[in-house]
Amino acid sequence: MQYSQTVIDHFMNPHNVGKMEKPDAVATEGSPACGDQVTVYLKVNDDTKIIEDIKFQSYGCASNIATGSIITDLAIGKSLNEAKDITWKEAADALDGLPPVKMHCSVLAVDTLRTAIQNYEIAKGLITPPDFTKETIADELKKVIYPQVGEDIVSLKMVKYIGFTDGVATVDLDIPKFDTFRDNVVEEIKEHLEKYPQVMDIVVNY
Ligand code: FES
Repeated sequence: MQYSQTVIDHFMNPHNVGKMEKPDAVATEGSPACGDQVTVYLKVNDDTKIIEDIKFQSYGCASNIATGSIITDLAIGKSLNEAKDITWKEAADALDGLPPVKMHCSVLAVDTLRTAIQNYEIAKGLITPPDFTKETIADELKKVIYPQVGEDIVSLKMVKYIGFTDGVATVDLDIPKFDTFRDNVVEEIKEHLEKYPQVMDIVVNY
């Protein structure tokens, strides 16, 4: 697999790595695609809402370590709102690219950062935990990467319909029967949605 020199540098010498004592917020997320995990710790200035310190721990692959490292560089010194807007494409670009089958590592790192921010905001009473709706499903589908090209299935227009009724999440896909990644994509959709207690059943049509 071809990695950029920047990925290799962050893998060999990750920035802001380790556990933080007394963080203001923490989040651990796992990747449905591979089972790897990332934990992100935040120290936030209560008045300015600036991320004053950030650390991460990785339980995964080289790209997991490199993307964990780069998101700490991108987020430190930013306000919570600015840090929320960091995208997995920006993280991958800051590493001078990732192989398509490793794009989900960047999704995982950014997702964990956003969850840590959300945990801070909930703990401080700045937001209430969001309701589970069709939008939640749509947001989760934006994290499902089609590994052949390293883009998410929503951007690739593979998602034709999303429904959520009586606890049943329904997703209609436009993905050819002979596509060798189809089963992976379906499996990953299910893994992304089944973590929500509101989802009793998942139906993926294709
Ligand atoms: Fe899954 Fe890197 S996080 S292979």
